[in-house]
Amino acid sequence: ALRADLKRLEEMFTVTDKQLKQITEQFIKELEKGLSNGGGNIPMNITWVLGFPSGNEQGKFLTLDMGGTNLRVCEVVLTDVRGEFQVTQSECRMPDELKSGTPDQLWGFIAGCIGDFVEQHHLSPEQPSGKLPLAFTFSYPVTQLSIRQGILQRWTKDFDIDGIEGHDVVPQLEAALKERNIPVKVVALVNDTTGALVASAYSNSEVKIGSILSTGCNAAYMEECSSVAKMKGDGVPGCTPVAINTEYGAFDNEHKVLPLTSFDCAIDESSPRPGQQTYEKMVAGLYMGELLRLVLLDLHDRDELFQDQDVLRLRQDHVVDCAFLAKIEEGTVEDISKAFNDMLGIKPSAQELLVGRYLAELIVTRAARLYACGIAAICKKKNIRSCRVGVDGSVFNNYSLFRERAAQALREILDWPEDCEALVTLHSAEDGSGVGAALIAAIGLERLKGKQ
Ligand code: BG6
Ligand code: GLC
Repeated sequence: ALRADLKRLEEMFTVTDKQLKQITEQFIKELEKGLSNGGGNIPMNITWVLGFPSGNEQGKFLTLDMGGTNLRVCEVVLTDVRGEFQVTQSECRMPDELKSGTPDQLWGFIAGCIGDFVEQHHLSPEQPSGKLPLAFTFSYPVTQLSIRQGILQRWTKDFDIDGIEGHDVVPQLEAALKERNIPVKVVALVNDTTGALVASAYSNSEVKIGSILSTGCNAAYMEECSSVAKMKGDGVPGCTPVAINTEYGAFDNEHKVLPLTSFDCAIDESSPRPGQQTYEKMVAGLYMGELLRLVLLDLHDRDELFQDQDVLRLRQDHVVDCAFLAKIEEGTVEDISKAFNDMLGIKPSAQELLVGRYLAELIVTRAARLYACGIAAICKKKNIRSCRVGVDGSVFNNYSLFRERAAQALREILDWPEDCEALVTLHSAEDGSGVGAALIAAIGLERLKGKQ
């Protein structure tokens, strides 16, 4: 029976070459719809990052990165030598309770981290502003009317804090800073994908797309303002490039093409925002571990796995993270056995170890192949035949099999023969939420000066 179940799971999780192409075609349509006045599932947010850095950007900036798991504060000094910068940083994990707490708890925690950093490094603002300029990488979908504001459209990555959706996050953070007498002012609000795009393009001009594969999954690229219908009339010349933060984790919220399984539906239903981020929930790090957990549990409940074991831990939501999948796919038999024991308190038999590894392979292969569809769709939409993609995030950086499978899927979708060199290639991005965010702040300030 186990064999039959594995066969059934293999069928559920396999995405064929033909399906990849169909998904990519639908993806292109949704990207286009998102740029239109009426909009669509994919937000295609205007970032007000109008072009790439010239190389002459200078200045000292604080940067703050609020991803889905970690919080990082940096001081970035862009020197007068092109491409040279100094970065001082500190990182902490965001307590899980914050994700469903109150706005005061969230902003208080973040302001506290910034305050500690300012104090530790004895930073003091220059006159006349009296404030340290901060580039804030806030990696959630926001509507931006300028570079230094952002109205949260909706929480993603299972955040669920009342009182922030529909509001500009910049004054909320600034109020928390003011309350604590921390002399910091937000000069730019940045998405992590835009930061990755700008930082990577700064060090390599072949980069046309910035992407994140971490807790969440998303990408940004440059579009001419004249192609962004919803931007018309904003006084920016039509030929100016503008970075679009696609927020394409929301692809196929209408469930037209993605091969959803019952496990995907269960993840969606138990998430704080059911019906949202359909694509992201099949691809990103936050959900791959949960998928494996649900599949293992299902096999256990069918009396196929871990029969005489205590599976209490396995019944806890989100107890399996993506690093576990990397470990059981890429580690030795001893590593896998230890990972099961440490994380789940389970001592698997030799056969169960292999089943676990095979299931991780199925889930991660599907995610990597679907990940490639988003990148291929941007390339096809923009007629990009060859480019580099700057990708950041712990899943991308720490999971070599994911990277290989995504590269193979790109080859299938974009029809390069096996003996032809890959034309669109995925590379670890330069530091987007540090250097990228600082560059974006510097470009913004230069523009403001130019206007005065
Ligand atoms: C880091 C990137 O690798 O991943 C950041 O440098 C990004 O730009 C972050 O925001 C996202 O990670 P997570 O897992 O905290 O969402
Ligand atoms: C989620 C967020 C998006 C971010 C991505 C990667 O999709 O909505 O803004 O870029 O995660 O962190």
